[in-house]
Amino acid sequence: MNNKTMVFVWSRNIRLFHWINVLAILLLAAIGIVIFNGKFLGLTTEAKITLKTIHVLVGYVFAINLLLRLFLGLVGQGYERFGAFLPFMPGFIGELKAFKQGSSKVHKGHNPAGKIMVAALLVMMLNQMITGLVLAGTDIYYPPLGGHFAESVAKDKTKIALIKPYSKENVDEVAYKEMRAFRKPFILMHVYGFYILIALIPLHIAGVIYAERKEKASIVSAMISGYKSLPKQ
Ligand code: HEM
Repeated sequence: MNNKTMVFVWSRNIRLFHWINVLAILLLAAIGIVIFNGKFLGLTTEAKITLKTIHVLVGYVFAINLLLRLFLGLVGQGYERFGAFLPFMPGFIGELKAFKQGSSKVHKGHNPAGKIMVAALLVMMLNQMITGLVLAGTDIYYPPLGGHFAESVAKDKTKIALIKPYSKENVDEVAYKEMRAFRKPFILMHVYGFYILIALIPLHIAGVIYAERKEKASIVSAMISGYKSLPKQ
């Protein structure tokens, strides 16, 4: 006899966020790897600027999607809320102990290991977003900080439109060097953040496969349909 029932867990908002996020990260990582190996690949400056511009435009989609998800964490319903998917909320330690002992087989939302992974992914995605926006401003003078950085390096502050990526026109050498020194820790955090994220993603996928084999709750298709297959009681 079938003692399972379909339970609605992931709202349309969560599922949309998840798949836009997956696509954006794949694109960002792929373009990022090409930019990173630009010298080795013999890219011209124009090609590099074009790739960086595309990377930043996809980055905006990634950032807006992430910010909307965080907003939903505060104002959303059910499993959209921070309390439902972040670790270290009241009751988490007990949940973790039961999970470790194997006495909690069913999880409507994420299991405790999943919650820790989601928190780690969110922190690293926020790191990519914040450092990425600083790099977009300091490298190709794109919003939201590009106007400020273009003004900071301009010799003639009345001709900011002359400031272009990788061009020396109207650029004050000293101010430019200062700006490049300022951005150094951000590029380091962006690149190391990328390494960490790239390591976390396969771990996340392995965790999903492991949980699916253990709990048999159709968690992969649940991120498409919204429904998990859970025991009736
Ligand atoms: C998951 C998200 C992201 C990943 C995996 C990622 C990955 C990378 C990688 C691997 C690089 C090459 C680093 C190098 O040139 O040495 C890069 C560069 C860059 N990224 Fe991202 N990135 C992400 C998000 C963003 C976002 C949201 C923005 C801005 C909107 C952004 C803006 C930039 C810029 C401007 C560069 C060029 C920096 C430079 O070479 O000077 N990135 N990214």
